[in-house]
Amino acid sequence: MDIRGKVIAEFQHRFDDSPLLLVQAPGRVNVIGEHTDYSDGFVLPMAINRHTLIALRPREDRRVVLHSIDHQATATFDLDGLDQDKGWEEYPKGVAWALQEAGYKLRGWEGTTICDVPLGAGLSSSASYELAVAAAFADVSGFPWDAAKMALICQKAENQWVGVNCGIMDQMIAAVGEEDKAVLIDCRSLETTAQPIPPGTSIVILDTSTRRGLVDSAYNERRQQCEEAAALLGVSALRDADLAMLTEKASTIPETTLRRARHVITENERTLRAAEAMQHKDAAALGRLMNQSHDSLRDDFEVTNHELDIMADISRNTHGCYGARMTGAGFGGCAVALIESERSREFVAAVQYAYQSITNLEPAAYVCRASTGARSEPVTR
Ligand code: GLA
Repeated sequence: MDIRGKVIAEFQHRFDDSPLLLVQAPGRVNVIGEHTDYSDGFVLPMAINRHTLIALRPREDRRVVLHSIDHQATATFDLDGLDQDKGWEEYPKGVAWALQEAGYKLRGWEGTTICDVPLGAGLSSSASYELAVAAAFADVSGFPWDAAKMALICQKAENQWVGVNCGIMDQMIAAVGEEDKAVLIDCRSLETTAQPIPPGTSIVILDTSTRRGLVDSAYNERRQQCEEAAALLGVSALRDADLAMLTEKASTIPETTLRRARHVITENERTLRAAEAMQHKDAAALGRLMNQSHDSLRDDFEVTNHELDIMADISRNTHGCYGARMTGAGFGGCAVALIESERSREFVAAVQYAYQSITNLEPAAYVCRASTGARSEPVTR
């Protein structure tokens, strides 16, 4: 049974009836534009064909009852008395809190949930969960779906309720993803433009099987260094800086901060050039930019680990690969490669074999399709 069948069957089992609605929101992989979102910069992620699903029906009262198949546990909370705790139920609670803070009048609902976005791999399972919950509330409470507004509300839930200081990329792409396309997002204006994946190519996610802690001080430290660099350059965010400004002020900026700024400035340029390459169906140019992005994240931003460097290296040296880089926050997790679709099977097998021989770790690989953002549909009985 697929996860759609499972989440509906679990609903029927628990609530003795069929659900009225099915909502879903995707995980994501970032093609290029890493560690730029919190400097108001550009990102180019795509939503993937792995999702959080919720099967549900409205309730007459203001309670939410949600059974998680993955956690084998049920969360119950009242919309009038939300209190912060720890655990997976903080995501739905946090989204309820942020929606109410924004003035939405919410109704209660009950349902079951399942997720096939790998957890903790840097593929944004939490953003997919948040957007699925927001879509559930939008549907039962009857308010219109404004994708960018919902992404901002879910980001607020993640920042202020769950306590993870992320940027806007993950929630935005889970909200605005498009079939067969990556999306260029301007993280200042939240303007989005879909970009076609070059014909004949596939995006492959390669999981190093090493894990990071996102709440980790390293991510927050990078954010602070970017803010410090912007202040020293006299701009409100690194989005407004260029290499000429950096060179001019170089003697007044600490060496590490300078390298952090250089990554963000050059990565923003690469991301805009990557979008152009996609418009020109130029897989080779896009692949080169992905390689440069990885090198900059390794040398200047210092967020790769040994396994990510090995994975990127092996991928680049395997037949059929245009380019490869780490994706997401880094410090472990996944790499992403742009490859010739025709060679995807041999590519995955060769990379897995080589990676395992060097590291003794078993890497998962997903050849993905770009998918649409959060959506809901009625369940026909
Ligand atoms: C994590 C964060 C995003 C972004 C990336 C790095 O995925 O959630 O907001 O900062 O790291 O590009």
